[in-house]
Amino acid sequence: MTNEIEYKERVEALENAFEASYDGIHILDSEGRTILINKACQRIEGITKEDIGNKTISQLVEEGYYDESVTLLVLEEKRAITRLQRVKNGKEILVTAMPIYDDEGEIVRVIVNSRDVTELSELREEIQDKENRIYLYEEQLSLKDMSERVIANSKNMRTVLKTIMSVAKVNSNALITGESGTGKSFIAEMIHKNSQRKDQPFVKIDCSAIPETLFESELFGYEGGAFTGADTKGKIGLVQMADKGTIFLDEIGEMAVAMQAKLLRFIQEKKFYRVGGNEPIEIDVRIISATNRNLEEMVKERRFREDLLYRINVIPIDIPPLRERKEDIPIIIINSLKHINEKYGLNKKISEEILNIMTEYEWPGNIRELENVIERIAVISSEDNLRLEDLPIKIKHNALNAPIKKKGLDDIINSIKGSDITGGEITYKEIIDEYEHDLFETLILKGYKPLRIAEVLSMDVTTVRRKLHKYNIRFK
Ligand SMILES: Nc1ncnc2c1ncn2[C@@H]1O[C@H](COP(=O)(O)OP(=O)(O)O)[C@@H](O)[C@H]1O
Ligand SMILES: [Mg+2]
Repeated sequence: MTNEIEYKERVEALENAFEASYDGIHILDSEGRTILINKACQRIEGITKEDIGNKTISQLVEEGYYDESVTLLVLEEKRAITRLQRVKNGKEILVTAMPIYDDEGEIVRVIVNSRDVTELSELREEIQDKENRIYLYEEQLSLKDMSERVIANSKNMRTVLKTIMSVAKVNSNALITGESGTGKSFIAEMIHKNSQRKDQPFVKIDCSAIPETLFESELFGYEGGAFTGADTKGKIGLVQMADKGTIFLDEIGEMAVAMQAKLLRFIQEKKFYRVGGNEPIEIDVRIISATNRNLEEMVKERRFREDLLYRINVIPIDIPPLRERKEDIPIIIINSLKHINEKYGLNKKISEEILNIMTEYEWPGNIRELENVIERIAVISSEDNLRLEDLPIKIKHNALNAPIKKKGLDDIINSIKGSDITGGEITYKEIIDEYEHDLFETLILKGYKPLRIAEVLSMDVTTVRRKLHKYNIRFK
């Protein structure tokens, strides 16, 4: 009696479990006829007990309820099978069918388990979709960040910004040209920071600062004991440090022709040898170069390899000088004044009049010169409102339409004394000093080295260096 009750209870519990299961359970006999099917299975497969009746699974496939039958496969192959299937109502279901054997090893039943994965795949698609969108947003945000950081108020510079944004997204080599101080290095870094390589290294190589004899070992590294004086452990080159990232070849026009050939081979083959090494090293870098020289002219003069120019100049970016985009000047002034106020804890303000005068000036040293002038006048002026007399003489003169280079010294003295710009008295020595200061500063800003300045002005190079020191003019 107790056994019977236990048995009944167990059957009831199994039946409950069978019906309550969230997964579909379908039990078929060896001919593929349904013995039992739970509610979940009817819901998932979109089929009812009535649809099934006494039909075999092959009949149901013929009638289009299933697109293939895992049960039939199990009966044929005599093993458990799992498949992703689509059923009549369009749902995607994951089906596992298990054969049950009798004592003789013949299949007596097949138990099919089905789980609706439509929702899962929809979720997966939704996640994928969201991920795609996040990627797009991130990209747009970084580009927005770039367009906010790069001042481009003028039409000229906005065109450049568009190119920069599209260059950031691709992997091509780019060549940035423009006068000294126009923002070539700044733009190169912006491109890297907004590219897919942004989390990888950005390695700047100043081609004008590395002596020709060291170039190859600096760039490509060397094996231990490759040459006298070489570190016994060898050294990794700058190129290898930039692997997966960006190499910025600044002032590429200064690179010696022999070195250009080695660089070209590396760009073409994407691999290089260390000095003294015979194992090629393969790396993946994007190359951004910059120069203030006219490389096409240099090609004509055989001072720059045409094939190298072709390789580095896949995307040309020419940054216009500041005098050709005067609309950018006021914003640059205001931004850098803000920056300097923060840096030195100052509260200097600039009037519209001075903004206008500074906008009219030609700025041969471009943004760098402009930033230097702002810093200088902000630091030396004694009042919070910057005054005209704080401006360097060259800018005041420009405002008076009396360019220094066209007039004699007498005119300069007269125009200063005659105008009310400078306020009080000014001594001859002050005029000469200021003129000299401007002269040397302009030459340095134009990229001349002390040795060259000495040549041009027929003076001793130590005198040039002394003057630079006197006026606190920094140079590379
Ligand atoms: N579009 C720009 N917006 C804001 N600042 C800029 C911009 N371009 C350049 N600068 C600033 O101008 C100065 C000179 O730029 P830099 O890249 O060193 O010039 P270059 O390499 O052409 O000599 C830097 O302080 C730089 O941050
Ligand atoms: Mg630079």
